[in-house]
Amino acid sequence: MSNVTTQSLLEMKQKGERIVALTCYDALFARLLDASGIDILLVGDSVNQVLAGAPSTLSATLDQMIYHTRTVRRGAERAMVVCDMPFLTYQVTPEEAIRNCGRVMQETACHAIKLEGGQLMAATVRRLVDVGIPVMGHIGLTPQSVHALGGYRVQGREDVAAERLKADAKALEEAGAFAVVLELIPAPLASQISKSLTIPTIGIGAGPACDGQVLVLHDMLGLNDQFSAKFVKKYAALAEDVREAARLFAAEVREGRYPGPEHSFGK
Ligand code: KIV
Repeated sequence: MSNVTTQSLLEMKQKGERIVALTCYDALFARLLDASGIDILLVGDSVNQVLAGAPSTLSATLDQMIYHTRTVRRGAERAMVVCDMPFLTYQVTPEEAIRNCGRVMQETACHAIKLEGGQLMAATVRRLVDVGIPVMGHIGLTPQSVHALGGYRVQGREDVAAERLKADAKALEEAGAFAVVLELIPAPLASQISKSLTIPTIGIGAGPACDGQVLVLHDMLGLNDQFSAKFVKKYAALAEDVREAARLFAAEVREGRYPGPEHSFGK
């Protein structure tokens, strides 16, 4: 059991305390982030792009997500660990969703799952919650639908689309979701949705009024320097640190300066 629970997240919203989430894909970073007080470690299917080099999240597999979630769970003590369900593991039928989400819960010991979609997924969310699987929703720019949405662009700018997103958020809350990610939507709309729900909203590119914020870890660390977006603030510039360390190592090896006597063993 983690210290951060669906109930404690709800209480944080009630007290106006902001929820902090980051994506995380391995035990080493999980340990560092957990010790830094991050509330939610989201094992995003973005792992397929960030670490596996795929062009989108669409080809992420259930086995891949189970592997990464299990490793994150090993590094986390306090934080809630949430596994992102990959494309086509929950959309076909509610029964398949229960089987796949249940497998994730059993094989990874994570605390919750996340799935994309609003009103259309509400019946599935209800079924999952009814069997005891906590569900985090995800609406707005839903990356598994990137081709249907015509690219990675801000959602809900037009009135009709904004109304649909409000209804999506409400449907997820009514179905029993414990939180909902709002991705890439206008800040005023995210503010209205956050105020209209009792469950917390976790924003990414959705402005400051959400109840919490999430970023992709490798983006905010400046490790993934091939990706930049207006909403990403870089809190470090680790890509350059890595390149510099590798250059230094290569130079020292080539010049015979590494390993020195202090790194070598005598008889
Ligand atoms: O896969 C992911 O990293 C996500 C976050 C961006 C919310 O879904």
